[in-house]
Amino acid sequence: MKKILLSIFILITLFSFSGCGKKENNKEDNNKEQEIINNSNSAVIYFSATGTTKTIAERIASLSKSDLIEIVPEDAYTSKDLEYNSDCRANREQNDINARPKIKNKIDISKYDIIYLGYPIWWGTNPKIILTLLDSYDFTGKVIIPFCTSGSTGIENSVNNLRSYNSNLNIKDGKRFSSIDKDDVIIKFINDNNEVVNSMKVIINNKEYQVNLENNETVNSLIKLLPMELNMKELNGNEKYYYLDSSLPTNSYSPKRINKGDIMLYGDNCLVIFYKTFDTSYSYTKIGHIDNLDDLGNSNILVKFDK
Ligand SMILES: Cc1cc2nc3c(=O)[nH]c(=O)nc-3n(C[C@H](O)[C@H](O)[C@H](O)COP(=O)(O)O)c2cc1C
Repeated sequence: MKKILLSIFILITLFSFSGCGKKENNKEDNNKEQEIINNSNSAVIYFSATGTTKTIAERIASLSKSDLIEIVPEDAYTSKDLEYNSDCRANREQNDINARPKIKNKIDISKYDIIYLGYPIWWGTNPKIILTLLDSYDFTGKVIIPFCTSGSTGIENSVNNLRSYNSNLNIKDGKRFSSIDKDDVIIKFINDNNEVVNSMKVIINNKEYQVNLENNETVNSLIKLLPMELNMKELNGNEKYYYLDSSLPTNSYSPKRINKGDIMLYGDNCLVIFYKTFDTSYSYTKIGHIDNLDDLGNSNILVKFDK
């Protein structure tokens, strides 16, 4: 009897342990999918006449931890202004190439690198007040990620129109949202665009190298420091290093082998570019890799890091 009870106990224990492990893993995987890659300084700037775009804007701002800024028209749109089956104000503006409806509020975009720009679709494109916004502030150097709501029309035409309105601007493809879209759709939108946004190049002796960046918090924090010019010190005939003034988040591991072109963080503030391949026992947080890095010679060098 004792033996039978013991076997039952072992079976239950084994079963519950393996089941538990599996459950935990699934939970972790789900959390990973839901995890937001927190991007640089970002704002959601939106216009909404009847509240649909506003709701999506609020959710993007909350999930991406961005500031939320409404574009408030000087003359608010009444429901009569929006009766598109008549000769309403909105229709007249959309048909008038020169219409630039005034914006009531001042918007400070200076501190943002990424701007999620939201609007409803009016007659297949963005409302004219969005052009007023682009005319009012200098968006050069910023990444604009458009989003819209509509009855059914996609965002593509409006994005093409915005790009041809000001070809100096960096306007991503964007996305149309429906009010029934769940959080996972919004999170995917934020993360997909964040990957597009993080890019870095280094310039050494007038030669520009593109860096294949890792997708981690260290990179997100480093990007915020750009542009920067560092006098990097030579060490051991295989690396150039510089101690940054501020610490970055770390997730260090022992790579065992350093590859020529690796960019690593040693400790929490020592930025290192390796220009030789060798075995190592040290731990680093990986930042990225340069595919075609030249031999950097055996002296200190000036390196420019930029977006
Ligand atoms: C003047 C006007 C024109 C519109 N044109 C279109 C259109 O071309 N295609 C479409 O799918 N929806 C169109 N709509 C519907 C709006 O895009 C849709 O209701 C949107 O979600 C409203 O957003 P809001 O509540 O943030 O203002 C139009 C609405 C108005 C008022």
